[in-house]
Amino acid sequence: MKSKGLLLLLLITLAYNGVFAKNRSSRPRLRRNDFPEDFIFGSATSAYQCEGAAHEDGRGPSIWDTYSEEFPEKIMDGSNGSVADDSYYLYKEDVNLLHQIGFNAYRFSISWSRILPRGNLKGGINQAGINYYNNLINQLLLKGVKPYVTIFHWDLPEALEVAYGGFLGAEIVNDFRDYAELCFQKFGDRVKHWMTLNEPFTVVKQGYLTGEKAPGRCSSFTNPNCLGGDGATEPYIVGHNFLLAHGAAVKVYREKYQVIHIYIYILFYLICLSYVTEPVMGRPGTFIRDPDSIRDPIRIRSENPDIRRGRIRIRIVKCWIRQSRIRIRIS
Ligand SMILES: *[C@@H]1O[C@H](CO)[C@@H](O)[C@H](O)[C@H]1NC(C)=O
Ligand SMILES: *[C@@H]1O[C@H](CO)[C@@H](O)[C@H](O)[C@H]1NC(C)=O
Repeated sequence: MKSKGLLLLLLITLAYNGVFAKNRSSRPRLRRNDFPEDFIFGSATSAYQCEGAAHEDGRGPSIWDTYSEEFPEKIMDGSNGSVADDSYYLYKEDVNLLHQIGFNAYRFSISWSRILPRGNLKGGINQAGINYYNNLINQLLLKGVKPYVTIFHWDLPEALEVAYGGFLGAEIVNDFRDYAELCFQKFGDRVKHWMTLNEPFTVVKQGYLTGEKAPGRCSSFTNPNCLGGDGATEPYIVGHNFLLAHGAAVKVYREKYQVIHIYIYILFYLICLSYVTEPVMGRPGTFIRDPDSIRDPIRIRSENPDIRRGRIRIRIVKCWIRQSRIRIRIS
């Protein structure tokens, strides 16, 4: 991949293909060769939603196992990911399907607690987990499907949530860096495209502000069923630590791995600035969506009028920019 352009990853679902293949008259008048030659067609999953084998082969629990198993009422159909699509066992079949459909790329995420059951190096590496991702990557390459790997897709090891509150704790930065480095070490010879964090903003908002997703934290004025939390402060802390964790992973990558020409593709968008609690606007319990203020922290400028609106915002933004400059360089 040259750095000149953005990678375009088109997600076309199987269902979409299936439906339209049967009905020629409604097939979109769009062909593959209408796209530039280097346009990449792909499909994507996340580990917890597709792997299954959640309690097998040495995998440690993640906050999503805990959340869905202990609070099934919080999941629309009460299900959990213990089996999911069973891709842990059916990965060869899945890769064959990707190949048959004609996809060039498959974006999947690594389950942190499958390769580090306790979340950190001290707690040991699970070789069965490493083997699984090696097999998956090798199978993809065999079928000509490029792996695009997300390092974190929300399934934080439960052990780290228990130890220091997960992304609420400053310790997460080094633990995430070590985990990312382990991924670079083990898979970086074949994986050329990495994504550090999947939609951190969604976790900030739905995990710590509205409490709809693991770890289900929020303030009682937003949601009476919160599993603890504080929607006025925690989203900022977590958003901040996401940025630092991302920065730490990129730094280790650039210093130690980029020299061997692994390409990193950073899909990092979104900060929690678009939601502010009422201390800023004066209406308790309401949240303001402010799409203009969703910004790459590097590009936030103090002259941005959004930032002048409230003190909380200003404080957080300053803090992010200061730390970002030291630790994060997003090209
Ligand atoms: C095919 O799609 C068209 C347009 O949506 C619809 O009118 C038609 O009924 C469909 N035919 C079949 C066989 O589903
Ligand atoms: C998780 O879902 C499975 C069905 O897929 C169910 O058999 C099992 O009891 C659930 N696990 C827990 C702990 O609720």
